[in-house]
Amino acid sequence: MSMLLEVNGVTVTFDGFRAINNLSINFAPAELRAIIGPNGAGKTTFMDIVTGKTRPDKGEVIWGERNISLLGMSESEIAKEGIGRKFQKPTVFEDQTVRQNLAMALKNPRGPFAVLMHKKTAANGARIEKIAEDIGLSDSLTRVAGELSHGQKQWLEIGMLLAQEPRLMLVDEPAAGMTAEEREKTTDILREAAKTRAVVVVEHDMEFVRRLDCKVTVLHEGAVLAEGRLDHVTADPTVIDVYLGRGHA
Ligand SMILES: Nc1ncnc2c1ncn2[C@@H]1O[C@H](COP(=O)(O)OP(=O)(O)OP(=O)(O)O)[C@@H](O)[C@H]1O
Ligand SMILES: [Mg+2]
Repeated sequence: MSMLLEVNGVTVTFDGFRAINNLSINFAPAELRAIIGPNGAGKTTFMDIVTGKTRPDKGEVIWGERNISLLGMSESEIAKEGIGRKFQKPTVFEDQTVRQNLAMALKNPRGPFAVLMHKKTAANGARIEKIAEDIGLSDSLTRVAGELSHGQKQWLEIGMLLAQEPRLMLVDEPAAGMTAEEREKTTDILREAAKTRAVVVVEHDMEFVRRLDCKVTVLHEGAVLAEGRLDHVTADPTVIDVYLGRGHA
């Protein structure tokens, strides 16, 4: 199968410190992947590289059917290619309603040909309702986002990302600060989203990763230490040594 994203031999150095060390990692078009690893392993830096925020010293980052290099591209060009990212802290517009937040995030054709405004508005309404359903906020469309719980704000932010219709969604520590019930709901949302796009989730919560029920990549010192099913990687002595032995099991 042809890969959606290929990272080959990437190295990133900050003031002489190798945060990413000859990293190679690939993702298929519709796959759910969890990335785990100790603090400082390079998980967030990996996302910074893919989204164009951090430039590698060497290596390749190859995207899509046309095998284009993301390395010369700006963050906004990469976003337009269909790579979306969710940061840890929700950045929803607190004084707008859930519906308004989703409406602002919708990807719409621009320019002189987008003239059938009322038709477009009806289609947008249907899309907003579908996304609200996917993120479990159908009953909250008219609520002001500032009144939502922390978990609901995170879901709204995932919904705003879905509205952009990314082909690859990068999600950094979505479960942080969530209740057990909210975590369960979040795994459902991400699993559903990964049926039609690639979704890459960085998370420390092993119960959360278990519920994602997907291939897991363990990063350590900026490179892949182990990869496979969760039971496989958590039984690996080197993974236990560098990560699980430190209280994440
Ligand atoms: N802009 C930067 N300048 C200098 N060092 C950095 C920078 N960004 C990251 N680092 C360093 O690179 C290493 C990897 O950091 P990164 O944030 O990618 O780790 P992580 O795996 O996301 O960790 P965590 O689980 O704590 O979020 C760390 O040692 C960090 O201090
Ligand atoms: Mg991080």
